[in-house]
Amino acid sequence: MKSITVLGSTGSIGTRTLEVAEQLGDRIRVVSLAAGSNWRLLAQQANRFRPELVALADEKQVPRLRSALADSGIEVAGGSDGVVAAASVDNADTAVVAVVGVAGLPASFAALESGKTLALANKETLVAAGELLTQVARDNRAEIVPIDSEHSAIHQCLRAGTVDEVQRLLLTASGGPFRAFSKFDLKRVTPEMALRHPTWTMGAKVTIDSATLINKALEVIEARWLFGIPADRIGVVVHPQSVVHSMVEFRDGSILAQLGLPDMRVPIQYALTYPERLPRSTRRLDLAELGGLTFEPPDTDRFPGLLLGWRAASEGGTAGAVLNAASEVAVDLFLNRRIRFTEITPIAARTLDCHTVTHPGSVDDVLEADRWARKKAMALAPGG
Ligand SMILES: NC(=O)c1ccc[n+]([C@@H]2O[C@H](COP(=O)([O-])OP(=O)(O)OC[C@H]3O[C@@H](n4cnc5c(N)ncnc54)[C@H](OP(=O)(O)O)[C@@H]3O)[C@@H](O)[C@H]2O)c1
Repeated sequence: MKSITVLGSTGSIGTRTLEVAEQLGDRIRVVSLAAGSNWRLLAQQANRFRPELVALADEKQVPRLRSALADSGIEVAGGSDGVVAAASVDNADTAVVAVVGVAGLPASFAALESGKTLALANKETLVAAGELLTQVARDNRAEIVPIDSEHSAIHQCLRAGTVDEVQRLLLTASGGPFRAFSKFDLKRVTPEMALRHPTWTMGAKVTIDSATLINKALEVIEARWLFGIPADRIGVVVHPQSVVHSMVEFRDGSILAQLGLPDMRVPIQYALTYPERLPRSTRRLDLAELGGLTFEPPDTDRFPGLLLGWRAASEGGTAGAVLNAASEVAVDLFLNRRIRFTEITPIAARTLDCHTVTHPGSVDDVLEADRWARKKAMALAPGG
């Protein structure tokens, strides 16, 4: 039996994690849960899974959660310290971090520092603090198992060989909804158009990032730290069907790929049960029915946001935190119709240009770079 803690349990990945945990029955025990402010759903989850501890980051809502769980015997904690307590709770061997944004950083570090396996969905942790996080994992002999589908695919392919045998990692990208748009048409993209992703249903930020290919840039950075492969040995190939989730090319020229229908519950179950692989009743991929898979190079002339990934991954240190924060600000401005779709990448790039990379020694250093980048990106925006 595995004992898990789920941080960000009320979100898209968090609720699917609990769904998978329920399907796995008595193989999984939920020891603690944490969320941002959705006390109602957290209370429902607590009543269903009977964890020892639940935490809510938003202190204002904690009294409501406490009264909802008054006679349950479940301990209730509040604020970011409460979330960290849920991440480092005794009796759990795996922490699922599905918190959104840099708010996930303290939980990820706390999980590793308490020696747990980190089942990581939160992109921002690796993008903003990958160098530091992987050092902390090594220091604590703790493992990081990715939930992001591309990195899960690479993790699975790497079971066929060692990192020393890898020639390069190949991340696949759907290409986003504007794969065939001209530069002229890209200028006229509206938030409504960009929010329609061809294959995955996700939050607004990651959907817009998929359309600019900045999401793939962030995944290059994630892969660089997670697998310890230099940025110039990480490639990206556009694969509109999103069936091949990513690949590893080994030094003898063999390429291994992981395939499956797009369903986040598959990488979630893999991370929960790793190193075991348990059965799952799910719709199966039928390659004959599919007919064909296509691949093409990314067009970095129309989608220059992708290049920022290699740049930040090579620069290391705080560059990832700055790219992450600046792109978040730019996406927000676009969603609020203050900038055009084609201005998102230049704002992120100019923020990186203005930044002097340092090597953070703590989560606070990373959060400081994040704050700096947000201010700078706002100042660089038109009318800022
Ligand atoms: N969705 C996907 O398919 C997918 C795929 C790959 C990677 N990811 C990554 O996984 C992460 C989560 O994505 P998501 O789509 O599940 O996001 P989401 O639906 O927005 O859920 C975010 C979760 O984080 C919680 N939260 C917010 N602030 C918090 C805080 N300060 N402390 C603790 N919990 C907090 C939220 O609680 P409330 O509900 O109370 O606000 C919610 O449970 C992101 O980093 C995303 O990039 C997502």
